[in-house]
Amino acid sequence: MSADYEKLFAEIATYAARRRAADPSRHHAPTATYAGQVSDFRLDVSQSASPEQVIRELIEIAEPGLAAITAPRFFGWVMGGSNPTGVAADWLTSIWGQNAGNHMATPAAAAVETASAAALLELLDLPRESSVGFVTGATMASFTCLAAARSAVLHRAGYDLEANGMAGAPPITIVLGEEAHSTIFSGLKYLGFGERNTVKVAVNRNGAMEAGALAAAMQKTQGPVIVIAQAGHINSGAFDPFVEIARIARAYGAWLHIDGAFGLWARATTTHRALGEGLELADSWSVDGHKWLQTPYDSAYAIVRDRQAHLRAMQIAASYLPASAGADRAPADYVPELSRRARGFATWAMIRLLGREGIASMVSRHCALARRFAQKLGVEPGVEIMNDVALNQVAVHFGSDAQTQAVIARVQASGECFVAGANWRGKAIMRISVTNENTTEADVDRSVAAMLKAWSEVRG
Ligand SMILES: Cc1ncc(COP(=O)(O)O)c(C=O)c1O
Repeated sequence: MSADYEKLFAEIATYAARRRAADPSRHHAPTATYAGQVSDFRLDVSQSASPEQVIRELIEIAEPGLAAITAPRFFGWVMGGSNPTGVAADWLTSIWGQNAGNHMATPAAAAVETASAAALLELLDLPRESSVGFVTGATMASFTCLAAARSAVLHRAGYDLEANGMAGAPPITIVLGEEAHSTIFSGLKYLGFGERNTVKVAVNRNGAMEAGALAAAMQKTQGPVIVIAQAGHINSGAFDPFVEIARIARAYGAWLHIDGAFGLWARATTTHRALGEGLELADSWSVDGHKWLQTPYDSAYAIVRDRQAHLRAMQIAASYLPASAGADRAPADYVPELSRRARGFATWAMIRLLGREGIASMVSRHCALARRFAQKLGVEPGVEIMNDVALNQVAVHFGSDAQTQAVIARVQASGECFVAGANWRGKAIMRISVTNENTTEADVDRSVAAMLKAWSEVRG
């Protein structure tokens, strides 16, 4: 290694360690605006710079615009904390520069996916024969699974989608809960399904699909059907009733897909496993690594029981690319891309680091911390906890919609913690998602204090 490389990488390592050490005490919201950052990042293409200067400038410009996602009081959206060991594995991924497309060209990158896939199926207790694609996020995981679903239900109807394409294919009905995550609709859009191809099924007050409403909707369907259920509602964390849903889907010969972007990890626990009872009866599952497994972004898994359907939908054929054969798994055969990052290394590192016990205790602890939030906030006058806090999500309404938004703005400005908002069940809510491995009870208490201070200021 040349001395310059050593200097460059050593500088980054020192910076990384200092940045992470400062996480607990940092202001938990970006101080720069997007417009300011666009201006600061503007490039003069007539200029070049040394490697050290490039990295120093990058840090200097980006720092004020960085969200504190790795910090312990970041409760916005559903974001994992990018564990340092996962990050180190991710650095190695970049250092090694492997293109994870093919098992012959990059055996380590391919083999680490094979081993991690087996461990994921064991941890999540899903059918061990399932195939797993390593994708960017749950959005692409659901897209991949639904592509397999589309191929399978048409195959069963005697239609060869891969040969004939969508034009002329028998119509497919998509049945899903009316509060399915927005990215499910993105996946459907990419696959050629529009709003009119979907049947939306009523949900209960926690956002979980009503099995009776699903049964009624299925009675009206004809031809191939794909049912999409959810393990972990974005606002409430609710799980759909999978045992009944799977029974109904099976009775109609439908493919059942489950979006478990974060909720699927409840399966790895003893405390919350029962929430996902029956989800192993589905045909495909999407789940993120970069949420509850704490891998760095981008990392998610498209899991499909019917390997042949998965291959039909995704396999890339070329004479120079050896395809999956027997036990030899070509990574590109299970994802929408050919050339890509070797995502398996970070996943392997996180499973090796935490093991089942580590993952289970982290998920259980996060759920207990979410309950702590709900208990401490829920007793305050004017504060309403809108969901059953069965998992790690808390939806909070403060007085009125305007007051809720004002509380969120004040909490963000305080920098004490970070929360964001949404609209749910006709009301503005503050969304609290506990997904960072470093969050402690003290972090929850400090955040509650910041929220109640903001609420008392807003109330006047
Ligand atoms: C239930 C659910 N599905 C899908 C997604 C999309 O995941 P990603 O952003 O990793 O693509 C999310 C993200 O929060 C989610 O909560």
